[in-house]
This record gives sequence, C-alpha cells and structure tokens, in this order.
Amino acid sequence: MDKLRVAGGQRLSGRVAIAGAKNAALPALAACLLTDEPVRLSNLPDVVDVRTMLRVLEQLGAQTTTLDGGVEVSIPDLASHEAPYDLVRKMRASVLVLGPILAREGRARVSLPGGCAIGERPINLHIDGLTRMGAQIEIDSGYVEARADRLHGAEIAFPHKTVTGTENLMMAAALAEGTTVLRNAAQEPEIVDLAELLCGMGASVRGAGSDVIEIDGRGRLGGTEHRVIPDRIETGTYLVAAALMGDDVTLTGCRPDQVEPILDQLRATGVKVGVVGDALTVSAPNRLTARDLRTAPHPGFPTDMQAQYMALMTQAHGTAVITETVFEHRFMHVAELLRMGADIRIDGHTAVVVGPRALTGAQVMATDLRASACLVLAALVAAGTTTINRIYHLDRGYEAIETKLGALGASVERIR
Ligand code: EPU
Repeated sequence: MDKLRVAGGQRLSGRVAIAGAKNAALPALAACLLTDEPVRLSNLPDVVDVRTMLRVLEQLGAQTTTLDGGVEVSIPDLASHEAPYDLVRKMRASVLVLGPILAREGRARVSLPGGCAIGERPINLHIDGLTRMGAQIEIDSGYVEARADRLHGAEIAFPHKTVTGTENLMMAAALAEGTTVLRNAAQEPEIVDLAELLCGMGASVRGAGSDVIEIDGRGRLGGTEHRVIPDRIETGTYLVAAALMGDDVTLTGCRPDQVEPILDQLRATGVKVGVVGDALTVSAPNRLTARDLRTAPHPGFPTDMQAQYMALMTQAHGTAVITETVFEHRFMHVAELLRMGADIRIDGHTAVVVGPRALTGAQVMATDLRASACLVLAALVAAGTTTINRIYHLDRGYEAIETKLGALGASVERIR
C-alpha cells in the first residue's frame, strides 16, 4: 500500500490549480443513469472515488469514453438494476445510484453501505423519501430492494439535513410523475451543481441552494453537457497549507463564493486571503490566533474541513474549541496529531486544541480521507520526516497531492 513521505519545514510558493469537486462529480455521474442519451461531464477530478463510480456505472451497462478532463457516459439500456456489495463497500456514495435506477427501471437493488470510520451513516432518510414517492422498499440480506411502477411527486420534510439524501431524491424526482417538494433540504454548492445538471437534462428544479427545493418530474430526460464545480474542500485544504507555510501561494480555478464559510474562519485566525476572479492568494501570517469552530451543514463551516482546520490550530496562539456536529466519530486524526506533539483533549464531540506546539515528524496513519489530509498538513510544519501510511484514503479525494504540493516547494514523496 502506498505511503507518503513528507520532509517538513519547506516554505510553499507558486500556483496550484484546483480540481473539480469529487462530491459534485459523484452525483453528476449517478445522474447519467436517468437518461438513455449521452451526457458529457467535464472538470472531473482524477481521483479514485470518481473511477469507482465509473466502474459502478459500467457494471450497470454504461459505455464511458474519456474526453480531455472529462467523460462521456452513455447508457442506452440498463444492463442491471443492482449495485453490489463489493462496489458499495468501497465507496458509500455508490448509494447515489438508488434513486436514479429506481426511477428509470421501476426497481433497484443496492447494497446497504454500512458504517464507516467517521460514523454510523445510515440511509434511512433516502429510504423514507423514496417510500413517500411511492416506492415499496424492503431490506433483505444487506440490500435495499426497491420497487415502484412509476414514482410520484411528494412533499418530503427531512428531519435533518442530508447531502446525498437530498441528491438521491432530487434525481428520483426528476423522473417522477408530478412535483416533489423537499423541505429542510441540504444547501451545499454540490446540490446547486446537480440541480443545474438536471435542468440541462430537461427537468425543472427550483430553489436549489435554499432549504426548499421543488422538482417537476418528466417522463423522459435527455443528454447534456455539464462542467463540474471546483472542489471547495481541496481549495480549503490548500488554503490551510498556505496559511501554515506559504510565501505567496495562488490557488487558481476556484469559486471564492462557495468557500466563504472557510474564508471567514481563516480570516478570523489572522490569515489574509486575496480574491481576484477565480484565484485566491494567501501567505502564512506572522501570528495565527486560535479561534473556536463549530461544523454545520452549508452555509456553516464544512465538516470535511474540520480535520485540516485542527492542523492549523496546533500552530495558533491560544486555545481553540472545535465542535463536530455532523458526524459522531470524526476525530481520528487527533490520536495521530498527539503522536506528532500536538496538545489536544477530546471531550465528546469537542476537541480542545492548545497552541502553538512544535510538531515533530512520525509514522502516522489515518482511517479516512480528511483525517489523512490533516496529517499531510501537520507534516508540512513538523520538524523532520513524517510517513503517512495507507494513503489510499487520500487518493480517493485528492488529485495528485504529492505533485501539487511538490510544485509549491514541499518535499513530498510517494513510496510505492
Ligand atoms: N444521516 C442519517 N440518515 C440518513 C442520511 C444521513 O442519519 O439517511 C446522518 C449522517 O449519519 C450524518 C448526517 O446525517 O450524521 C449528515 O450526513 P449526510 O447524509 O449529509 O452525509 P453524506 O451525504 O453521506 C456527504 C459527503 C461527505 C460529507 C457529508 C456532510 C458526498 C459523496 N459525501 O456525505 O463527504 O462529509 O455530506 O457534508 O457528498 C468527504 O468527502 O470526505 C465526505 C465524507
């Protein structure tokens, strides 16, 4: 299994191009199941999760053609209505095929994803919503078995926010009979991106980005071309890298409006970020000030940036109380940061970080994507060499991280 070896203490400067958003690319690929016409998606990130979703689509009968920075997906006929355990186990987001397959084929069989390193992560809200749209759903041998001759529109109020739950129901609703209203819907930029794609395919989606989304279903959807939005979490991760070690780093191809919650938090700690068009410029400030943080669904601070922010707080003056409200076990990076010399105490959903502390390189390992990113950031400031084991987690969501950091001046080597 690949490792990453980082020699800490190198200053960073220069430009880094931000890739397309993994969490927008995955639902966009799933949406290709809604039509028998070709859909062209561009700005797809070259990450393992996207490749896994392409494999899922191919198993379902998709022909995929690689284009420059993108892919054309064509599914004239569905070869199967099943997403098997082997693929869903690899990537929870495979559950995004449930709504589209059911809406197109009238039946779907999708493995239940099960828990993962960051929490239990049930999909009850996806199932409840599809049931309200007329699906008959059973759980059998670890699979969700869903049937519906034709889904119908419904009023669905989510008891709490769910990103992929909202996406699954938006896609199902786009081929349902009548209008679906989703209340307390997720408001992430990835939801708005999916709405734009569905509109391009011929659906009518109103209100995406607010907490009420209305979708008029169609009997048939068509092909289209769509450019996936930039990755706001990759953007935030490089912003933190630059806030720690940067001498004038420029991130290009960003959507500054979509990273405002991250920019606000970083600015509060003393980081100055310049915005010119789609570029963000940032340097490490002379002094970082500790600031508390509470994660929340968009427009709050993203849980997917909590671990990286914690790496930053190990270098800030004062005490930062970091509260994770979205997932129950999202502090796996803490034990590894402690091994590097950080001063962090966990109390339930809260981590108390006292800084600044001089970090030293160590052998570390993380069990999820964002925790791994946090360890890379900590390694950039640590004295000596850090070896990050099991970087397949990083490869799931960060495109060519060693190349991009290397181009900025970091000493990062992949060991195969
Ligand atoms: N939840 C339920 N029931 C459901 C669905 C969710 O109880 O049916 C709970 C979850 O257990 C969690 C909370 O609701 O406590 C929010 O989960 P959500 O459904 O919003 O998460 P998700 O859709 O599974 C997406 C991203 C995650 C990101 C979260 C939160 C994708 C493919 N994944 O997951 O991304 O952390 O939203 O923003 O979009 C990552 O990229 O590293 C990542 C984990």
